[in-house]
Amino acid sequence: MKEVQILDKKFREFIPENTIQERIKELASQINRDYEGKEMICIGVLNGAFIFAADLFRRLDIKARITFIKLASYAGTASSGEIKELIGWNEDLRDKSVLVIEDIVDTGITLEHTVDNLIIRNVREIRIAALLLKPEAYSKEIKIDYIGFEIPNDFVVGYGLDYNGEGRNLPSVYTLIP
Ligand code: IMP
Ligand code: MG
Repeated sequence: MKEVQILDKKFREFIPENTIQERIKELASQINRDYEGKEMICIGVLNGAFIFAADLFRRLDIKARITFIKLASYAGTASSGEIKELIGWNEDLRDKSVLVIEDIVDTGITLEHTVDNLIIRNVREIRIAALLLKPEAYSKEIKIDYIGFEIPNDFVVGYGLDYNGEGRNLPSVYTLIP
C-alpha cells in the first residue's frame, strides 16, 4: 500500500493513476457523443481541476474550446462558504454548450456559484463534469452529469487536489490516514 507524507499528514493511495485514466476515457467518450456538432466550450475551475481538465480535454475528438476561471473559497463557518473570483469570465459564452470541469464537488457551494454565473451569461446548455463527488457532503440540487468516482466524506489529495498547496503533482488520488 503506497503511502505519502505531505506536511504534517500521512495519506494512502486510494484511486490509482491507471484507474483514473481509464475512467477519463469512459467519460470522454460519453462527452464526445453528447456534444457532437455543438459549439462546445469547457470551463475548468482552477486550481484543482487543471490536471483533470487537461487529461479529459485531450481525449475529446469533437470541436471543442477550453477556458479557465479561478475561484477561491473562504470557509468562514461550515455553512457559509464565501467565494472570491481571482480570474473571471473573459470568454463570450452566449449560446455555447458549456461543460464545467471540476476536480471535486464537496458541499457544492463552488459549483453553484459557477452555474449561477453561467446562467446570467445566456449559455445554451450547461453540463457538469467532476472527477470526484462526495455524496454525503453534497447539499445542492444541480445535476452532475459526468462523475468520475463517488468517494466517502474524507479528505483527499493528488491529481490536482492539494493539502495546503502541496500534493497536486501526485498522479494518483490519496486519502488521509486518520
Ligand atoms: P465545495 O464548494 O464545498 O463543493 O468545495 C469545492 C472545493 O473545495 C474543491 O474545488 C476543492 O478545491 C476543495 N475541496 C473539497 N474537498 C476537498 C478534498 O478532499 N481535498 C482537497 N480539496 C478539497
Ligand atoms: Mg476546485
